Amino acid sequence: MDNNSAAKKENHKNTWSGRFNEPVSALVERYTASVDFDQRLAEYDIQGSLAHAQMLAEQGIISNEDFTAIRHGLYQIRDEIRLHQFIWLQELEDVHLNIEKRLTILVGDAGKRLHTGRSRNDQVATDIRLFLRASIDEITNLIKAMQLALLNLAEQHIHTIMPGFTHLQVAQPVSFGHHLMAYFEMLKRDSERLSDCRKRVNQLPLGAAALAGTSYPINRERVAQLLSFDSVCQNSLDAVSDRDFAIEFCACAALIMTHLSRMSEEFILWMNPAFGFIQLADRFCTGSSIMPQKKNPDVPELVRGKTGRVNGHLIALLTLMKAQPLAYNKDNQEDKEPLFDTVDTLTDTLRIYADMLTGVQVNQLVMRQSALHGYATATDLADYLAKKGIPFRDAHEIVAKTVQFAEQKDCDLSDLALDELQKFSSQIESDIFAVLTLEGSMQSRKHTGGTAPEQVQTAIQKAKEWLTAENLKHASMA
Ligand code: ARG
Repeated sequence: MDNNSAAKKENHKNTWSGRFNEPVSALVERYTASVDFDQRLAEYDIQGSLAHAQMLAEQGIISNEDFTAIRHGLYQIRDEIRLHQFIWLQELEDVHLNIEKRLTILVGDAGKRLHTGRSRNDQVATDIRLFLRASIDEITNLIKAMQLALLNLAEQHIHTIMPGFTHLQVAQPVSFGHHLMAYFEMLKRDSERLSDCRKRVNQLPLGAAALAGTSYPINRERVAQLLSFDSVCQNSLDAVSDRDFAIEFCACAALIMTHLSRMSEEFILWMNPAFGFIQLADRFCTGSSIMPQKKNPDVPELVRGKTGRVNGHLIALLTLMKAQPLAYNKDNQEDKEPLFDTVDTLTDTLRIYADMLTGVQVNQLVMRQSALHGYATATDLADYLAKKGIPFRDAHEIVAKTVQFAEQKDCDLSDLALDELQKFSSQIESDIFAVLTLEGSMQSRKHTGGTAPEQVQTAIQKAKEWLTAENLKHASMA
């Protein structure tokens, strides 16, 4: 008998059929089933079941023969799933019941003993935590790959001058490398947030059973050890019902996407010919079907757009959890699709970004011209005067008038002659020209976190050391 018809025959009655007089309608079956999407948890479900069964045998709750049979059965099921030979049945509702039913067909009564001291409530919570732990580890690595790409680009542009903006108006000259390293810092915090979230994800719910625990002499710590959980959830009601760890993960993901959407917005602006600062490699852009001149930054636009979707998933999970009474409620079945989509969107985005950064062409001349046109060194002139004893507010006013004059002459501050400058303040001397150049301005900001090239170089060095330390940490955890 093949897997499909055997399962159908076995399943003519439901798992809990004893108490029910009629089967659910086809619509209710479809409405309540989650197998279409939660089959994605199969590997973790099997991993959890193997640990649970081993503990049951070690505790003498099931026999060693039963455990051996369960293990063989689960291995076979895992192979069937990996080879896409496993037949998922909607009438068996979810990943857990599909696997358990198949196990029973394969190994008989031993399969029926697997669920001893366990409920789908603690089972599903365990599966999600295992899935999320693996996802966090993957995302952390992808963040590092993107950080490395950022570092490489920043290192090539320590001395490249661009206008730094506030209110999207030219503010002060900054090193393009410095600008890129701002994103390194954001991603570093994102990575730290994920590693903190991982601690709360990595707690074992199994043993909580349906809600109150179980009367079998189980050993939860042993299961935690077998599954590499840091420890066990301390309250059975909480263990089966709360999904705060998933919400927290979605909040981390939303922040990462938010950071990437900011960078995307900048790439989109910078690619616009009105800026003309950068070009993205053609593989990240598309043309227009009607306007032959167009090169559209589709990938950054989509990253910006998909941020909305990830933010939406965070709100979906918060709303799902809100006002749920203790303990488990079927509402929680709705946690999976937003969670899976968050992981998929985020991993794709990080992968694509790391690649996109390697193909950024920087138009240094245009960036520089743009800084020159925006009076980016006006603050430097004010600081120069203030250092000579003029109160800063007065210096600010003097420079505002000087800028107005340069604007009328349609030139940069550094293009004004010394006697023209001195009309605004007699304190101005010939050393002012070193201050008014873009390079002079940039080099003068040489404290920790400033844009002076020597500081950017130090920041890149520190970033490299941080990445190496992180890699070592992860290598020792693996
Ligand atoms: N498919 C369910 C979920 O995802 C598994 C737990 C079901 N438990 C229950 N008592 N109906 O949440």
